[in-house]
Amino acid sequence: MPQDMEKRANFGSKLGIILAAAGSAVGLGNVWRFPTEVGANGGAAFILIYVLCVLVLGVPLMVAEFIIGRHTHKNTADAYRQLAPGTAWVFQGYLGVFTSWFILCYYAVVAGWTLKYLMESALGEVAHISESTAYFEAFTSHPLIPLGYMAASMMMCHLVIVRGVQGGIERSSKLMMPMLLVIMFVLVATSVTMPGAESGVAFLLRPDFSKITADVVLSAMGQAFFSLSIAMGCLCTYASYFTDDAKLVKTAGSVALIDTLVAIMSGFVIFPAVFSVTGVAPDAGPGLVFITLPKVFQAAFTDVPWLGAAFAFMFYLLLFLAALTSMMSIHEPPTAFLIERFRISRHTATGIVTASVIAVGTLCSLSFGPLRDVRPLFGMTFFDFFDFVSAKIFLPVGGIIIALFTGWRLDRAIITAQLTNNGTQPVPEALLKAFVFFMKWVAPIAITLIFVYELR
Ligand code: TRP
Repeated sequence: MPQDMEKRANFGSKLGIILAAAGSAVGLGNVWRFPTEVGANGGAAFILIYVLCVLVLGVPLMVAEFIIGRHTHKNTADAYRQLAPGTAWVFQGYLGVFTSWFILCYYAVVAGWTLKYLMESALGEVAHISESTAYFEAFTSHPLIPLGYMAASMMMCHLVIVRGVQGGIERSSKLMMPMLLVIMFVLVATSVTMPGAESGVAFLLRPDFSKITADVVLSAMGQAFFSLSIAMGCLCTYASYFTDDAKLVKTAGSVALIDTLVAIMSGFVIFPAVFSVTGVAPDAGPGLVFITLPKVFQAAFTDVPWLGAAFAFMFYLLLFLAALTSMMSIHEPPTAFLIERFRISRHTATGIVTASVIAVGTLCSLSFGPLRDVRPLFGMTFFDFFDFVSAKIFLPVGGIIIALFTGWRLDRAIITAQLTNNGTQPVPEALLKAFVFFMKWVAPIAITLIFVYELR
């Protein structure tokens, strides 16, 4: 019988818990998706709404997932089975496991791209790309090369997950997250001191409230959910490895703080640099970090090309580290489920998840090349379909169900015990009441409104 079955693994320290959860949250969502959204939605005003969504919706939902995970000490599917056996709530557990697997199938493709750019920048090549759009398209549409990079990034994730919770996830998070933060500070410092950076800084700091529309609010909430890794069992699974003395609200607050800081700092890395180079638009869309930035790296450092190369290398290293720690957290829910439900070894379970993700991820990757015109599902390519369904459907639906479950079904005694660490850290009764009320009414209604509006 596998070891995990007798004594379930857990994280070794509070710092490890925070860094692992922050590693899950800080990902492509922060460094790649956030700047894209900020650029498309008008800068500072979007950031304000985003921060509001994180505080008002994100943190409470994260706490709810922590409660469910740490109380049951089980993988997401079995957690709901234990808390509400024989009811329809069990569906949420399976949805979490499935959504994780589903997201990984396309997340791994983009992680592969970051690995490719990391390799190229390590060789100093990014500085020599003359036609960055053509370069990006030639790479992503190649029938084999992107597959290799996707598989390689999945293998790195595999090697961590196979080593388990403390030896794999916690150890690598403790190594990679501080590295990521240091790189981030160096990049911000370089970027804001570039000539002409002021307009980029102003873009990020001076809100133009006329830009706020319903669409902007929706995008901000979607981005907050995605960036905080909530609503799909990821943090619930990590919380099942939390120790009893970890403080759930404080942990959620720290994770949200780190995640938001990294997102905003990414803005400060990218926009001052983008604005300092004339002729480059801030709303370049998803190609921003792969197409626009290589141009910026060259143009901004024409006098000192080695500095441009170093900047590029550090940027893609940051992007890859962020992607890898998030991939780990998306890999773990299905892996933990397979281990605990089917009583197979961690080795086998990790292998099944990795292999199946590479297989299906291949379809997503090929939809930029040979399968570009294959649109079996609602006129979308495989990649777009996976992205759309998970971010726009599974995440909001999961968020609504988690809130309803916590508000209406979950035993108040469990909530109280988890939030007070079994009574050792008292929390004002009013706060507990407010939390339950929020989960019963506010969160489900808010998310439903946004969800329905978005699909209309
Ligand atoms: N939050 C990660 C990012 O910003 C991605 C991620 C990890 C995620 N786990 C998740 C997104 C769960 C949604 C749900 O890139």
